[in-house]
Amino acid sequence: MNIILLGPPGAGKGTQAQRLVDRYGFKQLSTGDMLRAAVKAGTPVGLQAKAVMEAGQLVSDDIVSALIGDELDALAPGQGAIFDGYPRTAPQAEALDVILTARGRKLDHVIELDVDEDALVERITGRFTCAQCGKGYNDHFELPKVPGTCDKCGSHEFKRRPDDNEATVRTRMAEYRAKTAPILPIYNARGIVSHIDGMAAMDDVTAAIEAVIK
Ligand code: AP5
Repeated sequence: MNIILLGPPGAGKGTQAQRLVDRYGFKQLSTGDMLRAAVKAGTPVGLQAKAVMEAGQLVSDDIVSALIGDELDALAPGQGAIFDGYPRTAPQAEALDVILTARGRKLDHVIELDVDEDALVERITGRFTCAQCGKGYNDHFELPKVPGTCDKCGSHEFKRRPDDNEATVRTRMAEYRAKTAPILPIYNARGIVSHIDGMAAMDDVTAAIEAVIK
């Protein structure tokens, strides 16, 4: 099964993708994570992407589509994929069709998380992760059980994303409205779009997604 999780920054795409990975063995294909890894490693792609990401703008379509194609090539034939943060523009949606068809795959579901943008700013600016294992936390909703210690791996180091400040989040939201939301009609025409209330509690969002994909 191949699923797109769609929604503005902070809608919960990464949170829900991770849960589906843990429960069903999907592979999470997050272009944001791939780009951040490239920036950290200082690869040519990372060098091109760094300033664009820090400004909250979109990296070029060719770069992200190439990353997705490479990641799909590494999947076992029967393993499902969750696209998290891709596609984000009409050219990326077209590229994804080509990429999937070339690999004998098809899109099964596009799940849009419906959210309130002002609440998302609070969510995103409160977000932080364990520097060691990547477990996500939030100042407002999910703190480590023992302050300063990761619940999962016991590390005491945490990090925040450089693009998680209010000004950049507003730019990322504007990019979503201008370039990503307009791709929904492409998938609506295929009858594969489901809308889920992304403002509900995390477990309820997961249950609603599971009801769609089962
Ligand atoms: P990317 O990493 O994809 O960021 P994003 O789309 O802005 O999404 P986020 O990761 O911020 O949010 P999310 O929806 O995953 O929310 P999360 O689950 O973490 O992209 C970053 C940048 O990379 C882009 O700006 C662009 O420059 C570049 N890029 C990436 N892909 C690209 C592409 N395809 N084309 C071009 N450029 C690209 O949740 C957020 C917080 O809320 C967490 O703390 C979480 O705990 C909390 N939370 C989640 N759900 C709930 C809930 N139901 N209730 C309460 N809290 C919740």
